[in-house]
Amino acid sequence: MTADNTTTQASSVHGTWTKRWTFVLAASGSAVGLGNIWKFPYITGENGGSAFVLIYLVCILAIGIPIMIAETLLGRRGRKNPIHTMRDMVTASNASGFWHVIGIMGTLTGILILSYYSVIAGWALAYIPKLAGGEFSGATGALANSIFGGEQGFLSQYGTLIFWHSLFTIVTVYVVAQGIEAGLERAVRFLMPALMILLLILLVYSALEGAFAKGAAFLFTFDISKLSWNSALTALGHAFFTLSIGMCAIMAYGAYMPKQDSITKTITVIAVMDTGIALVAGLVIFPLVFAHGLEPSAGPGLMFISLPLAFGHITGGQLFGALFFTLVAFAAWTSAISLLEPGVAWLIERFGFSRRKAALTLGASAWVLGLGSVFSFNIWQHYKFAGMFTVFDGLDFLTSNIMLPLGGLLIAIFAGWVMKPEMVDDELRMESPWLRSAWWFALRYISPTAVAVVFVLGVYDKFAG
Ligand code: PFF
Repeated sequence: MTADNTTTQASSVHGTWTKRWTFVLAASGSAVGLGNIWKFPYITGENGGSAFVLIYLVCILAIGIPIMIAETLLGRRGRKNPIHTMRDMVTASNASGFWHVIGIMGTLTGILILSYYSVIAGWALAYIPKLAGGEFSGATGALANSIFGGEQGFLSQYGTLIFWHSLFTIVTVYVVAQGIEAGLERAVRFLMPALMILLLILLVYSALEGAFAKGAAFLFTFDISKLSWNSALTALGHAFFTLSIGMCAIMAYGAYMPKQDSITKTITVIAVMDTGIALVAGLVIFPLVFAHGLEPSAGPGLMFISLPLAFGHITGGQLFGALFFTLVAFAAWTSAISLLEPGVAWLIERFGFSRRKAALTLGASAWVLGLGSVFSFNIWQHYKFAGMFTVFDGLDFLTSNIMLPLGGLLIAIFAGWVMKPEMVDDELRMESPWLRSAWWFALRYISPTAVAVVFVLGVYDKFAG
């Protein structure tokens, strides 16, 4: 990677991205992934719908966007891997060494998320040949259900799950080993528009053939009685997960962002697009769920049951279905790369690893850990920690609901209270004084308070409620 004259200040050892659009593409590639299309609909279903959606939207706006801006500015200011960036920011602010925890915990969180993320992305890969082969042509809800979760169904075949999990890990490691600019940019440039077009086609289908009014009402009719602190914590955690914040992925990418780009504008556009994609995915899935008598609370399998069912009834569904799952796998791929990148950049800068060796080491670690998630859906499904978590559930809860909110909280406090405000302002250069005050207020007061309250009450509700 080299810097040209449109992108001055290439002081990261990994280079500054040469084309103006690369940060936007890479950051949106990181944000848009399984979180939007797979996770958002299924956790919305599990948490009763609209009230959950409302909290999620509030979390994105009042907490997610302000923290995402802060995380990006830390990265661009530091221009190193997150662990070293935080070390430099701490030194520059004369702050306590405690704050190093942001980089260390974030980097670790990435590997933990990657372990199960690649298992689910493997499901998407496996569904490409299933759809192309017409396994769902004319299927009923019951059939789609049993192909996925039946006694002899897809989830029970752990050898197959391991195969696809391995394949996905290998392609992720491959791209990261190449240096992320090489493959990423082309992938994202084609992926985003294609994914949006296909989602819109599905939206039309779901509006015509699904129980659209019922699906939309499930998502948007606010019903306060469905609220619990645990759901609020899940919504908060998901806001972090879907924006790729709280674990330094966006910080790592921020290190490659050209100095003259506006962080505020760029981040707002990415967050709005990310949220839009999740809402459309919900509007596609729930009308189909209701039209076919499926359970909205079906859990992680929701997308793998409802969408193949729809494709089974669309003309050209074999082709479109295979294409759709290909795009989901691509979206997951560009996110997985950003889960691995902070740790890889750190191994390179700290221990002088080659990119290849660093990517292989961390990829292999995540792969081994991922086996625990594979087995959570079959041979280990009855082993539950604390009576409620399989390995998959436990890792998901620990990362999304504990580590990401904690990471986000620490980032908000660090950028809002510990760092010198002149440094922050210098990096952001917000033109509108109104916007600048709103951002400072959200970062200093709203985000830390809201995260702390939801976190404490949510965890209490989960374990004691
Ligand atoms: N944002 C990704 C998604 O919605 O699928 C997942 C993710 C990527 C989370 C990178 C965290 C992260 F750092």
